[in-house]
Amino acid sequence: MADFGKEAVAIEVHGVSKSFLNAEGGSFKALDEVSFAIPKGSLCVVSGQNGSGKSLLMTIIAGLEKPASGYIRTDSKVGLVFQDADSQILGETPLEDVCFGLSNTGVRGSRAKDAACEALKKVGLYEKRNSPSHFLSGGEKRRLAIASILALGFGTIIMDEPYSNLDYAGVKDVNKLVGELSTSGVTLVILSHEIEKCLALAGRFIVLKKGRLVFDGTPQEGLSLGGETWEDWGIRFPLSAYPSLDSLVWK
Ligand SMILES: Nc1ncnc2c1ncn2[C@@H]1O[C@H](COP(=O)(O)OP(=O)(O)OP(=O)(O)O)[C@@H](O)[C@H]1O
Ligand SMILES: [Mg+2]
Repeated sequence: MADFGKEAVAIEVHGVSKSFLNAEGGSFKALDEVSFAIPKGSLCVVSGQNGSGKSLLMTIIAGLEKPASGYIRTDSKVGLVFQDADSQILGETPLEDVCFGLSNTGVRGSRAKDAACEALKKVGLYEKRNSPSHFLSGGEKRRLAIASILALGFGTIIMDEPYSNLDYAGVKDVNKLVGELSTSGVTLVILSHEIEKCLALAGRFIVLKKGRLVFDGTPQEGLSLGGETWEDWGIRFPLSAYPSLDSLVWK
């Protein structure tokens, strides 16, 4: 467990395990005694190959799944931006969508509309607030999901594979917003194996392998372990194609 001294902690994960049945009727550990802590206001990239447990861990942190053992502590409500942005959009228009989330917490009428408009401005979707949601691009749909979470005042946002299906411009849009949210004090967790698009934004880097935490440190410490370790993690070593940490961001 990392020790942050007096630094406030946004997410604490203590010995979290979860098993599922496999095809042979036995069980496999999708998460195995995972422990770490994420400081408040930090930006953390969580990586690992397909099936390493990233999405499962984050649904547990957001309270959508229960761990079989271990526990989670969070300092505020945690909002999740799903990989499939379409599945998260319920309103006919962006404005309706953000207001829908607010109405579930009892905020309605002009108060909801004002809060929704403010959140849509933050993510750059105010001009499209009354356009049909299904016409939004992939990047815009992700930003709409972020607006809904911001309107609810959640202090921590976890984004599951926020770059999937996005082109260069879409990735830059997401990263611009990520940078702005990060400076405004929101705690951000990005789940991604697309390290070259985001690692330079992060202060923390965590790697899962087959449900176990195999690395927890700074991006620079992670890179300094070299290509063989990354190969073992199942993630392509980014510095074999990019020269330094500073180049590992699409912006
Ligand atoms: N509800 C469930 N029932 C059965 N198995 C599950 C369930 N949820 C997750 N798993 C299994 O747990 C493992 C971890 O899944 P998870 O979705 O967390 O991986 P991931 O690291 O997010 O992968 P990807 O990069 O493909 O998104 C996988 O083997 C998955 O099949
Ligand atoms: Mg996943």
